[in-house]
Amino acid sequence: MKGVVLTGGHGTRLRPLTHTGPKQLIPIANKPNVLYCIEDLRDAGITDIGIILGDNMPEKVQEFLGDGSAFGVRFTYIVQGAPRGIAHAIGCARAFVGADAFCVYLGDNLLKGGIRAIVQDFERARREAGILLCPVAHPEWFGVAEVSEDGSILSLVEKPQNPRSNLALVGIYLLRPSIFGIIDRLAPSWRNELEVTDAIEGLRTQRGGVHAYVVKGWWKDTGRPEDILDANRLILEDLEPLDEGTREEGVQITGRVRIGKGTVIARGTVIRGPAVIGEGCVIGPASYVGPYTSIGDRSRLVGADIEGSIVIGDAVIETRNKIVNSLIGRHAVIGSAEGRLPRGQQLVVGENSVLFL
Ligand code: TTP
Repeated sequence: MKGVVLTGGHGTRLRPLTHTGPKQLIPIANKPNVLYCIEDLRDAGITDIGIILGDNMPEKVQEFLGDGSAFGVRFTYIVQGAPRGIAHAIGCARAFVGADAFCVYLGDNLLKGGIRAIVQDFERARREAGILLCPVAHPEWFGVAEVSEDGSILSLVEKPQNPRSNLALVGIYLLRPSIFGIIDRLAPSWRNELEVTDAIEGLRTQRGGVHAYVVKGWWKDTGRPEDILDANRLILEDLEPLDEGTREEGVQITGRVRIGKGTVIARGTVIRGPAVIGEGCVIGPASYVGPYTSIGDRSRLVGADIEGSIVIGDAVIETRNKIVNSLIGRHAVIGSAEGRLPRGQQLVVGENSVLFL
């Protein structure tokens, strides 16, 4: 079985973070989202993986992933370019897939518990197609499936006004080359994309045998800033502590905390886990890092007070104002307005940013 990971798309809901790279590289608990997907595929025994590249700085994906040897897999890069829909992106993998079954994984999805058992069942039962479903509170925001008692799909509708179930379509699909003929005949939707729900619905009506796997544990699609912060909390719930940094006097660290190499936790700093701090950071003096915070490599916090947040990396935070539930981009500088003239907050704010001052 092969893997196909999608790293294209517009990523408009994550601007301005996606102005400097694709959303699949945004770190969650200090690890880019796409790497969780690749590890899930690898742990299910899938090591021959096609990476679909979009047109938003795809070279950053290649630079980060390389040839795959660092992760125990082998990558083939496939250019989709402009985002013409998930089904279009899957269609781009046709030559790579050949005659094999394959698992498509959207590079901005996260699943607790992996896909190993699902992949095993798919192969053992020789299914034509498998989709993953997860119960959600607002099915009207998702593709929604209706499932029979034997686990086959009865209907699949994109963002229904009156959902027939609470089972949302997860961005992981187990397919065979039979899907390509169906994608060839798809018409673009109202948003001018080839929709994956239409492709799967076509497969169901023309060939049957689309099997539903309801996932246990949580699933997250990290399309919006609040989803990224939620995903960060969920991943940090299972954090394994590890301290590779150094501590000055008067430091208090409680709970599960991971601290990277070369990081200094300076005088009088308090850290309450779960929290992860990358490599080469200076945290303190006199800073507070509260639960569910991820701080990326080479960040500097001086007298800062932060919790429930992601600092992507190379950032400087030097204000006593408490920062909560925030997503802070690379090379951001958050200073103090105290004592500055003219008095007031000074900002350089990117498109679509949201600030509460
Ligand atoms: P979406 O989140 O549905 O789309 P998007 O990335 O365009 O985001 P936004 O709505 O904020 O503008 O995409 C789901 C996943 O599929 C995501 O990982 C990006 C990927 N994708 C492609 O690789 N190619 C495509 O043509 C599309 C539409 C998405």
